[in-house]
Amino acid sequence: MSHAAGAHVPFLELLPGTEELRGEIDAAIARVLDSGWYLLGEELEAFEAAWAAYCGAEHCVAVGSGLDALRFVLEARGIGPGDEVLVPGQTFIATWLAVSAIGAQPVPVEVDETHHALDPAAAAAAITERTAAILPVDLYGHPADHVALRALADRHGLLLLDDAAQAHGARLHGTPVGAYADAAGWSFYPGKNLGALGDGGAVTTDDAELAARVRRLRNYGSARRYEHVDVGYNSRLDELRAAVLRVKLGALDEWNARRSAVAERYRRELADTGVTLPTVRDGAEPSWHLFAIRSERRDALRGHLDAAGVQTLIHYPIPPHRQGAYAGEAVSKADLQVTDRIAESVLSLPIGPHLDQDAVGRVIESVASFT
Ligand SMILES: Cc1ncc(COP(=O)(O)O)c(C=O)c1O
Repeated sequence: MSHAAGAHVPFLELLPGTEELRGEIDAAIARVLDSGWYLLGEELEAFEAAWAAYCGAEHCVAVGSGLDALRFVLEARGIGPGDEVLVPGQTFIATWLAVSAIGAQPVPVEVDETHHALDPAAAAAAITERTAAILPVDLYGHPADHVALRALADRHGLLLLDDAAQAHGARLHGTPVGAYADAAGWSFYPGKNLGALGDGGAVTTDDAELAARVRRLRNYGSARRYEHVDVGYNSRLDELRAAVLRVKLGALDEWNARRSAVAERYRRELADTGVTLPTVRDGAEPSWHLFAIRSERRDALRGHLDAAGVQTLIHYPIPPHRQGAYAGEAVSKADLQVTDRIAESVLSLPIGPHLDQDAVGRVIESVASFT
């Protein structure tokens, strides 16, 4: 597909990915239809095994969403009311909601201005007797400072849970993100690097007991039919989604490589345009889920790009502590100046495995022509 001058450059298109794999996806769907078995079956087991192997983890438990993945890990570890969980100020609100859902207190920690990631020094300063866990986020697909956070969690005996919802395939010093933590939560929301035909999520971990508990939580607290040892939920990844995800997992590395090529071109050709480009941490291989630049004149730049037919998004315009969900709570008064500055200046450019070179060129020209 080529973009003639004046053509629209959409932020992200999902259809080309489905079309690229259409034959395999159709076959996977047909296999499930013909099996007569639609939940908690062979497709789920096969996907869980494949995703665990890809992530370098002993266990994978797939669940209904990324939010549930995070929530179930915290709950499985017995974290709840009276406990505090350190979360970054700058993230998608689901990171915080997972903590609130189990009655624990999200404690916002400032992110560092360079990487937009939870700052280990600020996290260390926020630890109290009530702190039970640290929940960093690999935002935009950039690995958080997992080496420092692992050491911090070990020093204080805290659970380290990685919100890897945006970081499928990202690595730090050659190790997949998620593997530094006690557990990682993944999202397979359709727009993610590994996206399902609908909602989905997973937990990966080396901890067999944690995995078993999450497995029960997703299925009414049950490991054996009609025996319920936990107060559980209904949050399962169905056979159709699992089968299609396994097809898409086969394309993940190739699609991430294409994202990376787009990111490299943006970084090269936008270097002198006055916008702040994303910084890659030493030893990091990002998944480039998003390409987030910063500009002091973000809204004007966004308007300029819009007029040129380039669609952009803001991740995120309102940080969690300023959302209505937390109005009236102490966190709404948190002093998160870096987070606030990011919210005012950040802008995500189109990126994806099916964004062609013409479209990338259009984006670059449009940013460069902004004065
Ligand atoms: C950083 C982050 N955490 C958690 C989630 C929640 O995932 P889901 O939408 O699958 O519940 C998302 C994505 O939506 C996310 O981007």
